[in-house]
Amino acid sequence: MRIAARAKINLSLEVLGLRPDGYHDLRSVVMPISLCDTVELKPAVKISLSVTSTVLPDHAYATAVDLSNLCPPEENLAMKAARLMKLETGHPGGVAISISKRIPLGGGLGGGSADAAAVLVGLNQMWKLGLTRDDLVFLGAQIGSDVPALVFGGTVLMEGRGERVSPVFDRRDGKIRPLDLVLANPGVHSSTPEVFRRWRRSRLTKQAPILNNIRSSVIAGNIDALAAVVQNDLTAAAFARYPEIERTAHALKDAGAIGVSLSGSGATVFGFVRSPVDAWKVQRKMSGAWTALARTCPVV
Ligand code: C5P
Repeated sequence: MRIAARAKINLSLEVLGLRPDGYHDLRSVVMPISLCDTVELKPAVKISLSVTSTVLPDHAYATAVDLSNLCPPEENLAMKAARLMKLETGHPGGVAISISKRIPLGGGLGGGSADAAAVLVGLNQMWKLGLTRDDLVFLGAQIGSDVPALVFGGTVLMEGRGERVSPVFDRRDGKIRPLDLVLANPGVHSSTPEVFRRWRRSRLTKQAPILNNIRSSVIAGNIDALAAVVQNDLTAAAFARYPEIERTAHALKDAGAIGVSLSGSGATVFGFVRSPVDAWKVQRKMSGAWTALARTCPVV
């Protein structure tokens, strides 16, 4: 069984405060994008993992990701997902997981979480477990803060630590056009705990109707309106810790991308473009950074 594990971007990320458990309360609009890892699951006696970095012909617009910072298998989120599924359901078998990575590691694009989400959804089918989407979201929250959103699929409003997710669009919104975007990453491995530790409550007044503004600009396909509303409260902390990210954000803007913003805790920044041709032109102007062209996948 092969599953496309989609990366995500955070169109907004508001940090509301520090919680007693050391995590932060968040409110974030999370949207999947076309950049994906491929997760292959095969029935096996034990649980095992292999990870390779590939650029498939249809993904030739992205450079291969650097796997030198890959964590040991026991810390890998896809492995954790498989172990948790086995533990929670008592399934007797195992699974051989092979991941072709195209989503940069430590990049704020939810790559590891997307792989874990794919394992949860895939094993539910392969092992015929009959778990509901809510069950999988609940299990996902035990693996990592971004997993519930990626298990749920489509654009979601993520709240709490990340465990509360609700859909942003529904059928009444009609067909929502994908938007073209360019991703750039300076090649640093951003540490999420470190970026959160540096976060300080912003004194700026929040734009209260962020969700509604995001909704209406995405439905209208209006990237100028979207550019005015994208925001990420971790930007100052990530830029201070990793100045390369700030330089990459400026370079992406100078290259012509619109609404350039940080995804998650970095190190990837994204910006919108008006067409695939413009995306290609922007990408050609970016030097020294990992870049990829992608499209948003607003609904499941
Ligand atoms: O849940 P996850 O393992 O993805 O989180 C990684 C780190 O990010 C946490 O250890 C924590 O430092 C930080 N974090 C946070 N508040 C959240 C999510 C993550 O402080 N809501």
